[in-house]
Amino acid sequence: MRGQINPSSLHHNSAKWLFMNEIYKSPDALIENISTAVMVFDNTLRLLSINAAGENLLSLSINKVRGQNPGDFLTASSEFVDDIQRALDEMHPYTDWGVELHLNEKNIITVGCVVTPFISEDNEKYMIVELIDANSFTRVMREETSSIVHDAARKSLKGIAHEIKNPLGGLRGAAQLLERELQDKNLKEYTQIIISEADRLRNLVDRMMVHEARPQISSVNLHEILEYVVEVTQAESSTELKITRDYDPSLPLLQGDKDKLIQVFMNVLRNALQAIATNGQIWIQTRIKRRCTIRQYFYRLVAEIKIMDDGPGIPEDIEHEVFYPLITGRAEGSGLGLSIAQSLLQLHGGSINYERPADRTTFTILLPLDINDD
Ligand SMILES: Nc1ncnc2c1ncn2[C@@H]1O[C@H](COP(=O)(O)OP(=O)(O)OP(=O)(O)O)[C@@H](O)[C@H]1O
Ligand SMILES: [Mg+2]
Repeated sequence: MRGQINPSSLHHNSAKWLFMNEIYKSPDALIENISTAVMVFDNTLRLLSINAAGENLLSLSINKVRGQNPGDFLTASSEFVDDIQRALDEMHPYTDWGVELHLNEKNIITVGCVVTPFISEDNEKYMIVELIDANSFTRVMREETSSIVHDAARKSLKGIAHEIKNPLGGLRGAAQLLERELQDKNLKEYTQIIISEADRLRNLVDRMMVHEARPQISSVNLHEILEYVVEVTQAESSTELKITRDYDPSLPLLQGDKDKLIQVFMNVLRNALQAIATNGQIWIQTRIKRRCTIRQYFYRLVAEIKIMDDGPGIPEDIEHEVFYPLITGRAEGSGLGLSIAQSLLQLHGGSINYERPADRTTFTILLPLDINDD
């Protein structure tokens, strides 16, 4: 039990609240499971409760701030404190999508805020303050939009792949028959070109449809998968790879499709290998992240895998499109590797992002370790 609200003292007309309250029996348990930050204040604006998302957003602990006024723990945000005091005095709900909260001198966050004062059955005033991290809101919206675009691109690609696959089989078969009938063996060179080009196209089409197969879920060890991928990539490389591992040994097993995850890491690691110079460096890092939102879903525990290299990074002109199918910066590339990785990760509720802090090309993969709470 985090806060001290008596559930029976809260009166809400909302059917949703009553329904949720019925399920959770306690508002504390209810707000604890909401992925946006929620604070509950009493009639003197003392903090009764704050959920885990709130502690996370404001970088504070309920044990330190319970019973305090917002002016005590948000000292540098006097305008916000005045506004919520006024809302309580006047019993006036309000919403403000651009509140700047000064957590300390260096850390200023912009949040959306929904303030709802209400009166309980025993005539006590309470107030709920919801804070929505505007940056993560914008990020989620951006991710959602790009994921819709990517899904649409993949679907149309899948349609094209199906259309190509069938006639391709016929084409290859006909070339083989033709080859057998050829009197002039010199002409075989041409049928061989048809056959090998048909095979090349078939490979491409198969890669476009790789995420078609249903996932085979089992408990998988991410470090074993990463080591396997390193081994295969090393075998493909003509030089000794410089790969620095920084694994978190406490990373638990993950419920996932082993082959599909191998494919994900293989695609990302191969890209790194193709990008670095002969004496280039690659880093693989694993970490556990707690309380993390992937796309719009909230998870308690998430595996974060970073694959980094010291190569030149993604060419600027395609930087924002690399997860889109058929976008490539390499002459011999097909531009499917990252798009496939993204769609296989989505099957696992995961995500992949690219950034380049301090000249280090970084692909960050997030994979939920628990069932999402939404
Ligand atoms: N680590 C990296 N460093 C620099 N550029 C990268 C890196 N990873 C990807 N890229 C760029 O992103 C492009 C898209 O990568 P993606 O893996 O999707 O396709 P590809 O490597 O071109 O072809 P495929 O993987 O299908 O053989 C690459 O062509 C490359 O230009
Ligand atoms: Mg690639």
